[in-house]
Amino acid sequence: MVHYSRHGSVFESLDYSEIDKRGEEVARKIQQKTGEGNDFLGWLDYASKLPEEEIERIVETAKHIRENYEALVVIGIGGSYLGARAVIEAINGFFPDDKFEIIYLGNTLSSTYTYQVLRHLKDKRIAVNVISKSGTTTESAVAFRMVKERLIERFGKEYLKDAIYATTDDTHGALHAEAKKEGYTTFVIPDDIGGRFSVITPVGLLPIACANIDIREFIRGVRAGEKAYSLSDYHKNPAYLYGATRYLLYSQKKFSTEMFISYELQDKMIEEWLKQLFDESEGKDGKALLCASGVFTTDLHSMGQFIQQGSHVLFETIIKEKHPIADHIVPYDEENLDNLNYLAGKRLSYINDQAFQATLKAHTEGHSPANVLEIEKMDPYNLGDLFYFFFRATAFSAYLLGVNPFNQPGVEIYKKNMFKLLGKPGAE
Ligand code: PA5
Repeated sequence: MVHYSRHGSVFESLDYSEIDKRGEEVARKIQQKTGEGNDFLGWLDYASKLPEEEIERIVETAKHIRENYEALVVIGIGGSYLGARAVIEAINGFFPDDKFEIIYLGNTLSSTYTYQVLRHLKDKRIAVNVISKSGTTTESAVAFRMVKERLIERFGKEYLKDAIYATTDDTHGALHAEAKKEGYTTFVIPDDIGGRFSVITPVGLLPIACANIDIREFIRGVRAGEKAYSLSDYHKNPAYLYGATRYLLYSQKKFSTEMFISYELQDKMIEEWLKQLFDESEGKDGKALLCASGVFTTDLHSMGQFIQQGSHVLFETIIKEKHPIADHIVPYDEENLDNLNYLAGKRLSYINDQAFQATLKAHTEGHSPANVLEIEKMDPYNLGDLFYFFFRATAFSAYLLGVNPFNQPGVEIYKKNMFKLLGKPGAE
């Protein structure tokens, strides 16, 4: 379970009486699915309803992919890839002890990145998990077409049948139609779960399983989250208390920015996932906090000055794991030319913890108050629990703000402009 604490004098003057009045009603809106966008609340109990056969099918498919291919190319963007990547990188790190590679494509229109990935894949036997709820997203559709062209050139069209796994809508969209026609294996993104909440569905589960991460443990964590963060009394529900607090920091204290912080470089993608979750859910009608992110101590050497003494715009939300996945000890050096022997024999994680304590004190005594969300470890179980914590916090915070958490009308505007410029048939 996530342990939530608040640090900084600003919290003493936060007035929670508005939440005392509205909190129960907002919690009811979520639980009874009566708020705006309520047809996108399928994530509430998706994990506990997920049949064992579907989990087994994903596990078996991942096993087949790992045994028959050298790499999985995950093609998707936004909610259709961020969650999976966040889990995979947080657990396996940047240099996994695994010959099987997971590579991401279709998350950009960068020609250089796309060219380099395709070059890297040139001589590999790859499988592809193409993920798109709409089935029409330009970035992923273009990348998918390029990968297919390469595979057909090298192995012939027959190869695609076993190598392509499509995760998409059950009945609609171009990807669904193509998968059906070509006979690709498919997985379903439920109608009532939007992209940014879909990491707990096959969208996240298949790539995570292909990275040799235990998805049963991940789902067990999500199910634990379903129990832990459903209480309607926000005093007793840390997800709602955190959601209420970030809303009050925005509405009463006029903070404009929430900065997500981790002390582990490999957790950076969790922050990217969080930026999408909150910014896309709340940033509408001219309202909401802007979510930013940083990894400490790395970014203390770039943004630390601003956070300590710059304009009073941000508060921090720190995700802190009690026990790191791996550790290392600072060696003793006879000559001690670097004067570091005072640290000899100390664990790097101990030094990182002291940096965390020191920074928390400095920033909270300076301009930036902090929420601390502590979890035991970045393992599949705790990550499942953490993600569900954030789902609940987002819904609670967005309804307090008075916006529909589950739509993203603004995202369509750039697409319309782009389609017009590109001459897409039917674009106005
Ligand atoms: O959360 C969202 O709705 C978006 O980030 C989408 O997931 C993203 O745009 C990709 O859409 P699709 O899955 O339809 O390709």
